[in-house]
Amino acid sequence: MSAHVLLADDEALILSSLRGVLLQEGFEVTVASSGEQAWQHFVKARPDVVLLDLILGDITGIEVLRRIRQLSPETKVILISAHATLEQAVEAMKLGGHDFIRKPFELEEIVTTVRNAARISELEGRLDYLARRARQHSDSSGLLFASSIMASKLREIELFARSPVQTVLIQGESGTGKQLVAQLLHERSSRSHGPLVELNCSTLPETLVESELFGHERGAFSDARERKLGLCEIADGGTLFLDEVGDLSASAQAKLLTFLEQRTFRRVGATAVRKVDVRVVAATHRDLRAMAADKTFRGDLLFRLNAMTVELPPLRERPDDILLLSEHFLRAASHEFRRSWQGVSKEAQALLVRYAWPGNVRELKAMISRAALLYDDVLLRPEHLPSDLTARAVPPHQPVVSEPADAPIATLAEVELAHIRRVLSLCGGNRTLAAQKLGVTRQTLSRKLEESGPT
Ligand SMILES: Nc1ncnc2c1ncn2[C@@H]1O[C@H](COP(=O)(O)OP(=O)(O)OP(=O)(O)O)[C@@H](O)[C@H]1O
Ligand SMILES: [Mg+2]
Repeated sequence: MSAHVLLADDEALILSSLRGVLLQEGFEVTVASSGEQAWQHFVKARPDVVLLDLILGDITGIEVLRRIRQLSPETKVILISAHATLEQAVEAMKLGGHDFIRKPFELEEIVTTVRNAARISELEGRLDYLARRARQHSDSSGLLFASSIMASKLREIELFARSPVQTVLIQGESGTGKQLVAQLLHERSSRSHGPLVELNCSTLPETLVESELFGHERGAFSDARERKLGLCEIADGGTLFLDEVGDLSASAQAKLLTFLEQRTFRRVGATAVRKVDVRVVAATHRDLRAMAADKTFRGDLLFRLNAMTVELPPLRERPDDILLLSEHFLRAASHEFRRSWQGVSKEAQALLVRYAWPGNVRELKAMISRAALLYDDVLLRPEHLPSDLTARAVPPHQPVVSEPADAPIATLAEVELAHIRRVLSLCGGNRTLAAQKLGVTRQTLSRKLEESGPT
């Protein structure tokens, strides 16, 4: 990422030679030949580093430094002077100057000092973010599986991770492990030494998405009291994980598209265009194709995102994983709650693989942990599980899971009731609509529900 440097000196020759070497080093450079002009440029462009001559004709470098420190304490200001006395140098450092260079100087000395200052400015921005993140505490258990479908998904994930692809999309129902996959995509990539930065697009107020992603300058809007680095900048050299990308507003989708196409962006309230090297991993539980069809998600953005897609299958299609994960969660919870659980009984296994798991692995984990805490036994049996688990079992036209031979057989009435409940919930509880879909009258539907007793 290229840092932006403001150069202020009243000697034209020095300005142009410094500007030349800094441009060559890949910095973005703005020049000013007086103190007042330097200040104006600073307010507008908010450079990361300022090189300031102490003597500037109108207002002194010290005065400019004082103003900059007030407005933007995180900016690195390097002072230069030929005639400076030791006292002036000390004063400049006391005021928060980053470094002090004497004229005559070697160009190389200036370049090194600016490079270090830019690096420190960037690192401070990242540290800020990481410190905030560390406080949030992230759960980083590994991805466990026994099914062959997940084994092939893992191969795909590792292939994507090691490839130079810039964008990966993870799709899957809620609780299928999208977060874990995003972590893996980062950890198994050559970017693993860079940061993994996460933004949940659904929990953020629409108005904040842009400034979270791209950062903002102080004063860009009424709450912007400090300059803030955007997550794109913080993720430079690493991975940016955009969770629930299907929840982005239309305007945020447009901004994200521009960023994905050009890998450049502007902080809110800034004019300078910045470039970063990040891999964007996006995840959603929504059907983006359907959303694109009814125009709630931009088709061109979907096209950008889904070149490489990991589709995580729902848990009900992975009975082997249900068995492995239930054993795993039971042991983990047993340890945590100091219980004596050893394993899951055949009868409980049969129930678990027949259930539809709308909340997928998250729901399984919660159900097992709850049982492990509420009871204390060696084998997890059906009575430790919610009593209506059978009624909630897979409706008939769901993808068929391979059932253990000794699984209890559901009666027709149970299957019918489960189907009715499922359709009813798909219709948001609207009995008239559900009855229509099921091809019965509303009265028949109500009678069947009443006969089945309380839900
Ligand atoms: N294969 C797995 N092995 C171990 N734990 C898993 C696996 N899949 C999911 N989990 C666990 O299940 C929970 C939900 O997973 P995760 O948060 O990754 O789901 P998600 O797809 O991001 O869900 P959502 O769409 O609701 O955000 C987490 O606690 C996660 O650790
Ligand atoms: Mg998630």
